[in-house]
Amino acid sequence: MVTDQLHGDILRHYAGEPLTERIIAALQAAGKSLDCLKIDDLAPIDEFHTRGRKATMELASAANIQQWMKILDVGSGIGGPSRCLAATYGCMVTGLDLSKEYCRVASMLADMVGLNHLVDYQQGDALDLPYADQSFDAVWTQHASMNISDKSRLYGEFYRVLKPGGVLAAYDVFSGSGETLHYPVPWASEPGSSFLVSPEESRLILAATGFDIKLWQDDTESATAWFRKIATKSSESSKPVLGLHLLLGDEFPSMLKNQFCNLQEGRIRIMQIVAERK
Ligand SMILES: C[S@@+](CC[C@H](N)C(=O)[O-])C[C@H]1O[C@@H](n2cnc3c(N)ncnc32)[C@H](O)[C@@H]1O
Repeated sequence: MVTDQLHGDILRHYAGEPLTERIIAALQAAGKSLDCLKIDDLAPIDEFHTRGRKATMELASAANIQQWMKILDVGSGIGGPSRCLAATYGCMVTGLDLSKEYCRVASMLADMVGLNHLVDYQQGDALDLPYADQSFDAVWTQHASMNISDKSRLYGEFYRVLKPGGVLAAYDVFSGSGETLHYPVPWASEPGSSFLVSPEESRLILAATGFDIKLWQDDTESATAWFRKIATKSSESSKPVLGLHLLLGDEFPSMLKNQFCNLQEGRIRIMQIVAERK
């Protein structure tokens, strides 16, 4: 598929319309005070990946994130993980995302929680990172590579912008049994914008790029348990005011159900990865 068309499909999938008003209205409806908003208030909507904030904290600990690090979050969404890292460790994080609207919302939320001195957001393509070689101590990425077909180039870009000895921290979705997925899934309405490879293939590409794997952990079981819990909860109660349906729209219940089935049937796997740039 031509890049412009693919990017158009991805942008329509993630952010078809202005999000700001919807998020502000939902925060108010949930009884959050906009004057003293905390990052925890935002966690149900801004940690846009399996197992939410918990997965972010686990990856940060596994990657040994430190205050002095300058971090690049690739596919940063509306900025939950970057704000969480900045608030927890005091490090500086730049978020890069294909969606201008997501970057705008990410900056607004950073202002609202008083973190704009530590985080900044830039629209761009992960396959053509707008940064000089060896600019970052860590590259962070959660649930973004599924929309990107050229993994060699993606990992090559991660490698290029990392300093020698820098760390890649990834939490991603991979193919499992090889069977076709149930669609829509949270990252794609149909197969044309989903590009999963197996963990084994990914590991080979990372090694060929020059990364030294430090942690290679299958998180599929915990991910399945998490989806089981939220799928059960959402069938028992009415939709929560704050949740990822704000980003993913009307198809969200089907995405949730399909993601749970894909995990349970072994069609996808979730991995936590830490690798070092040689
Ligand atoms: C499921 S969201 C995850 C957001 C964030 N990492 C998080 O965990 O909260 C995937 C994000 O990847 C972004 N994305 C997809 N393809 C991209 C690309 N080629 N370059 C940069 N960002 C991309 C999307 O716009 C979307 O914001």
